[in-house]
Amino acid sequence: MKDEYVHGYDPRENLRLQDQAGTLVELLHSDTAYPAGSSVLEAGCGVGAQTITLARTSPDARFTSVDISEASVVEAGRKVAAAGLTNVQFRQADIFALPFEPASFDHVFVCFVLEHLARPVEALEALKVLLRPGGTITVIEGDHGSAYFHPDSEAARRSIQSLVDLQRMAGGNALLGRELYPLMIEAGFGAVSVSPRMVYVDSSRPDLVDGFTRNTFTAMIEGVRESAIAAGIVEPAVFDRGIRDLYRTAERDGVFCYTFFKAVGKRE
Ligand SMILES: C[S@@+](CC[C@H](N)C(=O)[O-])C[C@H]1O[C@@H](n2cnc3c(N)ncnc32)[C@H](O)[C@@H]1O
Repeated sequence: MKDEYVHGYDPRENLRLQDQAGTLVELLHSDTAYPAGSSVLEAGCGVGAQTITLARTSPDARFTSVDISEASVVEAGRKVAAAGLTNVQFRQADIFALPFEPASFDHVFVCFVLEHLARPVEALEALKVLLRPGGTITVIEGDHGSAYFHPDSEAARRSIQSLVDLQRMAGGNALLGRELYPLMIEAGFGAVSVSPRMVYVDSSRPDLVDGFTRNTFTAMIEGVRESAIAAGIVEPAVFDRGIRDLYRTAERDGVFCYTFFKAVGKRE
């Protein structure tokens, strides 16, 4: 795989992706539904965290979900089958060399993938070729620069920055969400519309305190501890302090905010 995937493929990361998907279903998916009979390509499906929602929300659409990781595709297939969903086919494939005919899909869906690629515009262009004219693409990405919290903490900001730096070193961009509009325009999509989706968490929302602040965001930062320290990006004591301070924002008087970006565009 050319672009290194900063989060890796271990079971804890898979669990984190499931937690993230479960917590964010309403926020990210409520306005996505595909018509009966339409064919949808999900590019970079990972272990199927979004696939289950997509296939459930649009039970009469036909999904083809691909990922560069064979192991992830196998795991995604197992999960989708266990959920009793039969409208998804899986295939191991690289976004930059997809084994499909031009204009063979009505819609494309991409979630949390472009931020890991060194050439996001080329990826979007490759996906555009597979859309029929008039077909849509939906892209959802995070932006780690959008994280702010109470109590504020310099160490927490440094530990988040260490993931941003590590992802940059691996060829990706953890601040990609804010760039979705220009990237989609550069790739030649029309009717591009981007909507920010803010997650706001305080202790009156215990499901988000656990599902987002602790098990999604902080777990994601914690997951790069060894690589960030090995790369010399951050001192272990500062990183660990930062993680403690991020968990601190999940206490009764803590607050955590993060913004995702969802873009929709058309092949004209
Ligand atoms: C953060 S995961 C997101 C997975 C899923 N979309 C979700 O939201 O849970 C990013 C995924 O992109 C996949 N990926 C990275 N580069 C890829 C490429 N060139 N072609 C296909 N998949 C790729 C990785 O293997 C990984 O499963």
